[in-house]
Amino acid sequence: MLKVVVLVSGGGTNLQAILDSIGDGRIRNARVEAVISNNPGAYALERAKKAGIPALCISPKTFENREAFNRAFLAKLDELQPDLIVLAGFLVVLPKEMTQAYSGKIINIHPSLIPSFCGKGFYGLKVHEAALERGVKVTGATVHFVDEGTDTGPIILQKAVSVEPGDTPEILQKRVMEQAEWVILPKAIDMIANNEL
Ligand code: GRF
Repeated sequence: MLKVVVLVSGGGTNLQAILDSIGDGRIRNARVEAVISNNPGAYALERAKKAGIPALCISPKTFENREAFNRAFLAKLDELQPDLIVLAGFLVVLPKEMTQAYSGKIINIHPSLIPSFCGKGFYGLKVHEAALERGVKVTGATVHFVDEGTDTGPIILQKAVSVEPGDTPEILQKRVMEQAEWVILPKAIDMIANNEL
């Protein structure tokens, strides 16, 4: 059984997709051990609690500096001993100590077809704003391993999504989530849990 820890910062719809997929068998041989947020107000924490999963918040605001926060975060992960760490809308840049300690065991979902619209500054709606500004006809989502860079690690899965006339960043974000993110993130976890990568 793959022990998964999910890191979140916001609404947690990707977390929900993971929990639902474990529930209905689309993810086999994995369980979510804990959900950790950097943001106490993240609705993702409620979703975890509703599913009976330990929901923790480690907020940088409660530490005197970034190093102390990083140490506490890493200590909590070490205590949980996850086989896989899933960044599901986690907006904190991971410290080098963490990417090194868990090399090959951290995956992220990014709402574009990497290498388009990714890297520093491309998160949330900004990704979709940039895609619409450039006028691409196809965008999508990518699941990738996390290394020391931003969105630079090996790609696991991608799924394309059409851009439609009249799209706003919000409409496009919703379509990318529904058609791509909520599909390929659970799929990637299932593949890792069952040695199908
Ligand atoms: C998603 O668009 C994800 O790709 C991005 O942040 C958003 C998180 O949404 N990294 P949610 O918290 O899973 O609802």
